[in-house]
Amino acid sequence: MEVKQVNKYTGIVEYYDLLMTSGYYDYKAQSNALAEVLHSCSSVLELGVGTGLIAEQLIKKMPEIDFVGIDFTEAMLEKSQERLGNNIALHHENILHMDLEKKFDAAFSNGGIWYFIESDQKEYIFCSHIPKIQDIIKSFHSVANHLNTEGRLILSVQGVHKNYEQDLADEVTYCQEIFPLPHSKFDKKYSFRRDRSIIAEQTCRYQLLSESTAKILLDECSFEFQCITPCRQYHVYRKVT
Ligand SMILES: C[S@@+](CC[C@H](N)C(=O)[O-])C[C@H]1O[C@@H](n2cnc3c(N)ncnc32)[C@H](O)[C@@H]1O
Repeated sequence: MEVKQVNKYTGIVEYYDLLMTSGYYDYKAQSNALAEVLHSCSSVLELGVGTGLIAEQLIKKMPEIDFVGIDFTEAMLEKSQERLGNNIALHHENILHMDLEKKFDAAFSNGGIWYFIESDQKEYIFCSHIPKIQDIIKSFHSVANHLNTEGRLILSVQGVHKNYEQDLADEVTYCQEIFPLPHSKFDKKYSFRRDRSIIAEQTCRYQLLSESTAKILLDECSFEFQCITPCRQYHVYRKVT
């Protein structure tokens, strides 16, 4: 099926924010788990900061931490800056070309550039906003270049992508449709409707990999698997060289 490609996130940020604050993620539980993993870190980089929702919770819990966020969607960053205030450093960067001239104790992606998906199989599934494998490897190298030795790379876990609808505030309904594609890719089309008319929509393409393939790629980029956090919210890797 042909899916109309819409500019990622452009013009959709307010509705996206409405969705994300309506229980799409459990930011309280996530930020508790993240703060535990980050307890010994003094600097952290968020990859795909979006509208700053997890960042806001984390900074509240760890006010001393040197927090930096990146995102390649300007409209998301603007919302994030508004939420976090001008003292928080946010950069308009694509991870593939990122050069922040700084190294961090940890970097995390919370439903951002890549994450893991729960599965009823033996392994989790790795899901990436970056569709080409060569670019996924490039993105791992890019993070590795921004981490101190022993620095942590932390990826969130989320549920399976499926078709569904959810009523939000202001008589807005969120509708999500998944379109499987060859080579373990899929398109996710989101739309926001009011009175049955589409008021905003977007389509994002994702690449899926098995957890073991992702581990091999991460290993090639000097990331060693360390653990999954107790409530299975995050996978933690460690930069070894
Ligand atoms: C679902 S949102 C992140 C949500 C946010 N981390 C939170 O917890 O609220 C995913 C973000 O990843 C960003 N993103 C995707 N690919 C990217 C890339 N290659 N470089 C930088 N940002 C990227 C998108 O622009 C989007 O804002």
